[in-house]
Amino acid sequence: MAAVMLTVNGKAVSVNAEPDTPLLWVVREHLKLTGTKYGCGVAACGACTVHVDGKAVRSCQIRLSQVTGRKITTIEGLSDKGDHPLQKAWIAEQVPQCGYCQSGQIMQAAELLAKTKAPTRDQIVEHMDGNICRCGTYPRIVRAIERAAKEA
Ligand code: FES
Ligand code: FES
Repeated sequence: MAAVMLTVNGKAVSVNAEPDTPLLWVVREHLKLTGTKYGCGVAACGACTVHVDGKAVRSCQIRLSQVTGRKITTIEGLSDKGDHPLQKAWIAEQVPQCGYCQSGQIMQAAELLAKTKAPTRDQIVEHMDGNICRCGTYPRIVRAIERAAKEA
């Protein structure tokens, strides 16, 4: 097993794991960044969403060998002090209930705001469509994204 070099939240890291290890387990088990959650393991819920080179991906479906030398951002690296406009809006709108899905929701939303500064409600709903929340916080998620877009 050879060490694989990645950049995670702006820091170069070396990971000793099998090449087919899902990025989700690299992040959670090897790097101890446990903000990223395991939900379904089959790309159907979005709880495991992280960014690879700025693109939101389901980390349960990406293998370590696919991200060699790439830039990974997890919820822990989205902002220095937890003050990304989305994180502030999430607090202002009191979005979470159990919270389990929310880091994935925020990472998915962050991809949208990075490319679309003032998304319409339809664009928000479409972009967030694959992220499941069993607590049904969807209306507050939409409101928080709208708030973040205004305040960013
Ligand atoms: S755990 Fe990856 S999409 Fe559900
Ligand atoms: S807040 Fe509980 S699953 Fe979304």
